[in-house]
Amino acid sequence: MDENGNAVLCRDVMKVFGRGDAQVQALRGIDMEAGLGEMTMLVGPSGSGKTTLLSVITGLLDATAGDLVVLGERPGRLSPEERILFRRKNLGFVFQQYNLIPALTAAENVAVPLLADGRKRQQAVAVGKAILDALGMSHRVHALPNELSGGEQQRVALARALIHDPRLIVCDEPTSALDARTGHAVMELLRAAAVRPDRAVIIVTHDARIFPFADRIAHMDDGRIVNLEVNGKKGD
Ligand SMILES: Nc1ncnc2c1ncn2[C@@H]1O[C@H](COP(=O)(O)OP(=O)(O)OP(=O)(O)O)[C@@H](O)[C@H]1O
Ligand SMILES: [Mg+2]
Repeated sequence: MDENGNAVLCRDVMKVFGRGDAQVQALRGIDMEAGLGEMTMLVGPSGSGKTTLLSVITGLLDATAGDLVVLGERPGRLSPEERILFRRKNLGFVFQQYNLIPALTAAENVAVPLLADGRKRQQAVAVGKAILDALGMSHRVHALPNELSGGEQQRVALARALIHDPRLIVCDEPTSALDARTGHAVMELLRAAAVRPDRAVIIVTHDARIFPFADRIAHMDDGRIVNLEVNGKKGD
C-alpha cells in the first residue's frame, strides 16, 4: 500500500511497443488509483490498452515511462528475482487466456501457487478442491483442462488466483465465459476477497452485468483513462 491507502498508484504511465513504423503507443499517460478494500474495473474498447495496463501493474511488462507503485513497491526498482517473489506472494492473476497447465487436473492447477510456495502436494490439492467446491466445480476437480468447458476453465483459473489469499487480485475478463448466475457467484467471491482493508481487486471487463460490483470504473480509450466513475456516480 502507499501512504494514501492505495493498492496501486499510476502516474503518467506510458507503454510503447516496437519501434519506428511498427511503434504502438498502448498507454499514453495513465493516472489512476486502485484503493485498498476496493474493486476497481477497467472498461473500454478492444485495443484501448486494458490488458497492457494490467500487465504493467503486475510487473509482467515494464512501463516505458511514468511512476507506478504497487502495494508500496515500485516494480521497476525490484530485481528480476525480487519481482518474481513479490508476484508469487502478493498477486493473483486471471489471464484473458486462462493459461492452465494441460497435464494437470483442475484441482492440481488450482494448487500451483501453494506448491510454488513449498506446501505439501496433498494438502495443497485439498485446498484447491475446497475452492473449486465454492465455485460449483466439485464434480470436475479431477478433469484435465481440455475436458472442461470454457466457463469451467475460467473458474479453475479464478480459483488458482485466489488460493494463496493474495493482497492484489487482477483479472482480465473473469466472467466472459460464464452465464449470469455463475458470473454472479464469481463476483460475490471476488467482492468478498476485495472488501477487506488490506486487499484489492482490479478487473478488466466488457460485462455490464457486473458493473454494480465496482467501487470505481475507469473507462479507457486509446491508451488513456477518459472517465472515472466512483461508486457508480460520475467522477472527475
Ligand atoms: N506485445 C505487443 N506488441 C505490440 N503491440 C501490442 C502488444 N500487446 C498489445 N499491443 C497493442 O497495444 C494496444 C493495446 O492492446 P491491449 O491488449 O492492451 O488491448 P485491450 O484493451 O486489452 O483489448 P481487448 O479488449 O481486445 O483485450 C493494441 O493496439 C495492441 O495491438
Ligand atoms: Mg485485453
